Amino acid sequence: MKRNETERETTVTTAVFGSEEMLQSAPTERIPQHSTTPEIAYRMVKDETYAQTQPRLNLATFVTTYMDGYATKLMNDAIAINYIDETEYPRVAVMCAKCINMIANLWNTPEQAKWKTGALGIGSSEACMLGGVAAWQRWKQRRQKEGKPTDKPNFVISSAYQVVWEKFAQLWQIEMRTVPLTKDKLTLCPEDAIKLCDENTICVVPIMGVTWTGLNDDVEALDKALDKYNKETGYDIPIHIDAASGGFILPFLEPEKKWDFRLKWVLSISTSGHKYGLVYPGLGWVVWKDKKYLPDTMSFSVNYLGAEISQVGLNFSRPAAQILGQYYQFIRLGFEGYKAIHSSSIEIAKYLHSAIGKMKPFRNYSPEVNNPLFIWEMKPEYAQKCHWTLYDLQDKLKQSGWMVPAYTMPANIEETTVMRIVVRQGFSRDMADQLLTDIAGAVAELDKLQYPTTTRIAAEKKEKVKGSVFTHTGKGK
Ligand SMILES: Cc1ncc(COP(=O)(O)O)c(C=O)c1O
Repeated sequence: MKRNETERETTVTTAVFGSEEMLQSAPTERIPQHSTTPEIAYRMVKDETYAQTQPRLNLATFVTTYMDGYATKLMNDAIAINYIDETEYPRVAVMCAKCINMIANLWNTPEQAKWKTGALGIGSSEACMLGGVAAWQRWKQRRQKEGKPTDKPNFVISSAYQVVWEKFAQLWQIEMRTVPLTKDKLTLCPEDAIKLCDENTICVVPIMGVTWTGLNDDVEALDKALDKYNKETGYDIPIHIDAASGGFILPFLEPEKKWDFRLKWVLSISTSGHKYGLVYPGLGWVVWKDKKYLPDTMSFSVNYLGAEISQVGLNFSRPAAQILGQYYQFIRLGFEGYKAIHSSSIEIAKYLHSAIGKMKPFRNYSPEVNNPLFIWEMKPEYAQKCHWTLYDLQDKLKQSGWMVPAYTMPANIEETTVMRIVVRQGFSRDMADQLLTDIAGAVAELDKLQYPTTTRIAAEKKEKVKGSVFTHTGKGK
């Protein structure tokens, strides 16, 4: 008798791999008609993700992939708590406010109030949006008071912006003016940024820990340039800092560097708790220099949860577990603990940066490693004679479990393909050595190729049009 002719009945005693469900494809279109045992449901879901990269070998992500057992337990214990139910779980709201205080002080807030002004987000994206919306509302209110039009707001940012700023621009219909990066200007050039400002500029957004490169924009120089410009024009253009990664790196590793609320025009800063804040996703934070910079129009009140509750945020419900995780990390690690972890990450990043920079096919994009991440590219002379691209290396490394992304740079320097490594807590020196061995092994394999790979052919086709370095010599290796 063929198996699929038999309708098996699943009971609590059915062995998982003797069940009918394991003979079927997992549901795709509709909720299954009948229930199944938790063991079978668990196995089906778990196995669907079985072949994925191990999170700690994923060197593409900035997001936390390691927390200790106590943190994990605390967060699991709080998994059923909705942050918005403040009346039911008032201690969670207080814990959130304590986290905001600690982050605000880490960024040298001048605010004297007992509770500093900030909000949590589901990640930096929500936190950036809130910072951007506040800047827009403040600009709008000031313009309305002056009887001036408010229909053409814009903001200024480098072309190496993270996609959230494109979303911000499109969703709120605020023009995004980008300062192009060049091979000589690897970060936002303050003078070029000022050239794009006018009376409709709601803010300038420097980035600490640029997603594409890992470098930091020079906020101190931007603040100075903006101060001069604002004085000359009578405008009031402020700075919102997107410190998604750098917000939790700089205070620990470069506390004397002035990039934060110590600067005059920095009115708000956002970061990801779930990146170098060392909490599992999703958690973001935004802090304002003072309550007066958070417009009242951004606070919404509801009264149906048992008390009058005000909230600032795009989402209503959100998990509370991440707040417990963040508060735990602050207590568990302390300033010195964060410093030690991030120092190790940056040391390992510098070690990899130096080792990869010395490999024959590669050169580093920048000699600097500002944050525990960096990018590299293929040397043009090597690209001329080999049969492969960084996309092939990405694929090869996947075979050993590593996710090391290859991508093209943003507008104006988009002809450059790079690879990026993000080092995070959980990536040891020994793992770095394993990775270097795997990169060297992959390069040796790729160098044996007699014919160009498909990505190489595609790159050559594209580049031939522009007459660039990829034009093949025909000599092979
Ligand atoms: C500079 C920058 N801003 C914003 C974001 C968005 O952060 P999130 O994924 O926490 O929403 C990222 C993410 O990598 C980033 O690097």
